[in-house]
Amino acid sequence: MGITGFAADALRSLSTAQRSFIESLPKAELHAHLNGSIPIETLQELAKEYTIDSDDGMSSTLPPDIQTGLARLQSGPTLYDINSFFPLFPAIYFLTSTPRTLARATHAVLDSFLGPTPSPSESTGQLPPSSPQCTYLELRTTPRATTALTFASYLDVVLAEIELYPPEKAALIVSIDRRMTVDVVKEIVKLTIDLKEQGRRVVGVDLCGDPLAGNMHEFAPHFKRAKEAGLGITLHIAETVTNPASETLHFLSWSPDRLGHATFLNEDAKAIVMRDNICVEICLTSNLLCKTVSTLEEHHIRHYLRNNHTIAICTDDTLPFRNSLPGEYALLLATPPLGLGLSEAEVERVAKMGMSARFGCGSGPGPSDDAVTVPDT
Ligand code: IMP
Ligand code: ZN
Repeated sequence: MGITGFAADALRSLSTAQRSFIESLPKAELHAHLNGSIPIETLQELAKEYTIDSDDGMSSTLPPDIQTGLARLQSGPTLYDINSFFPLFPAIYFLTSTPRTLARATHAVLDSFLGPTPSPSESTGQLPPSSPQCTYLELRTTPRATTALTFASYLDVVLAEIELYPPEKAALIVSIDRRMTVDVVKEIVKLTIDLKEQGRRVVGVDLCGDPLAGNMHEFAPHFKRAKEAGLGITLHIAETVTNPASETLHFLSWSPDRLGHATFLNEDAKAIVMRDNICVEICLTSNLLCKTVSTLEEHHIRHYLRNNHTIAICTDDTLPFRNSLPGEYALLLATPPLGLGLSEAEVERVAKMGMSARFGCGSGPGPSDDAVTVPDT
């Protein structure tokens, strides 16, 4: 999948040796949403197949709103703010709502991050080989019930694809959407715990979705149960300036292992995050494009780098953002203003932090004592 924008500009500014350095680093992708990471080519294929391949052999037409949504995704959507991001998903969901199409999409996402499976699954078809973006992937997705899928069968289809890779390569995080009812949250957490107990490759639970939706106090006991069952907990937290500080502190009382974005933490929240060494999943391009952060210069990554706090560099949603994990690492290495201007040794240490924050496969080495020097721009 071609990349554009901030990450592409940073990559282009690097020397061949610097690009090879990034490619050769062991890197963990810990924050990637399945339906936000489908290669655009795969989505186009699914759209084409929908129109010519309905079960009764008749051709069908995509509904107008889905066609409009697809056209936006194909052109590389312009986002005005984070609220213009969530309406991109109905078109994607329309095309990944059966076991066959969901398996196809999952297979393509895994392939784009990790390269082809060691033994490709015949049922999902062959895709052209692409160069891997990372060494290890924790793919996250929100179970969806459709006319052809239940929450359980959705997770089974995704896990079957993930489990084609060895455990040191890929695992699943189950996402809970803030827009869900508490009964659905309860059901999905139970399913997730059951899958873990059956030995399936599920390693954590995520909280995601519209950052201002839902009553999060109702969700608390279910996340507690997931934690007690040995699942890792990651929460999209303080993603917008409107998220109240009280909510952020409430989330931190759930003892999460990692945090997504954590863009607007106040001093009290930062102190807890530092004290408890909670890894912050950093998605630079995502924050810039959704305009929750204006420039790299003022990105909260600088605070964590200065304090040598564990972070993981991640892509979030490569489909709308047209980024890649090597591109996000290029944003660390490139000279300001295109990037943060870190040294190769510093970038290597950041990559090790990401590997150390995996839920699956045990933890690797923690960060060393030296803070990363952030050049002033
Ligand atoms: P899925 O869980 O595989 O369906 O991936 C897409 C879903 O992830 C979206 O519908 C959102 O609920 C969620 N998502 C993706 N990116 C973000 C984000 O930056 N913040 C909050 N939720 C997100
Ligand atoms: Zn996210």
